[in-house]
Amino acid sequence: MKPTANYDSSAEGYNQRHGDKVSRQRFERVEEDMVAAARGGHSCLELGCGTGRLLNKIGGNHSVGIDISMAMLKHGDAPRVCQATANHLPFADNHFDTIVATKGVFRYLDPTKVFSECSRVLSTGGLLFVHQYTDNVWSIRRPSQVAGHLNDYDDYDNLADLNNLIRTNVFLWRSIRFWPYVARIPTPIAGRLWSHCVLVFTKI
Ligand SMILES: C[S@@+](CC[C@H](N)C(=O)[O-])C[C@H]1O[C@@H](n2cnc3c(N)ncnc32)[C@H](O)[C@@H]1O
Repeated sequence: MKPTANYDSSAEGYNQRHGDKVSRQRFERVEEDMVAAARGGHSCLELGCGTGRLLNKIGGNHSVGIDISMAMLKHGDAPRVCQATANHLPFADNHFDTIVATKGVFRYLDPTKVFSECSRVLSTGGLLFVHQYTDNVWSIRRPSQVAGHLNDYDDYDNLADLNNLIRTNVFLWRSIRFWPYVARIPTPIAGRLWSHCVLVFTKI
């Protein structure tokens, strides 16, 4: 079952709760490739931009954000944002050269719709960065296990499922990079100490 996507009630104080030094340093590392790609391109879209933490880092001239929660948008100060669902993007075809979706936003979305929409609004050669939380991941030699734990939701279970999804939406795998635990951690604890994974796709 998907986790709840309703951030309206938690928007107040969100920046304070998620803005501690450890958390900022962690996301600095996890997001460095997507920030560099977004800054190096002409136009970037963030899905589920929330209060605009990442958009502001990328820089307003390069980026636009959408979020389903008006309360999250109102608690931020990013210049170019609008309320929308990532499952139906209010943008023209081939409009962006980078799309970023961080802090596990994909776990709230319909994968078929969101991959198809990202493919539509990305220009050819454009990049889609998907940051997901993972749990129970302990070895970089087990990518299928990583994919099996990409989401904690039922839409795709393994790399083969994900492969079919991206192939039908004219994406190619570019890379998977992740920051796993070095030891297997029991699920109740791992659920709190998520490890991270960034998947990168190219629109072909
Ligand atoms: C974990 S927060 C991340 C916020 C921001 N990206 C950040 O890094 O601080 C997830 C965000 O996804 C948004 N969200 C959930 N479902 C969505 C959807 N269908 N379309 C767009 N945004 C959605 C939520 O409102 C929330 O702001």
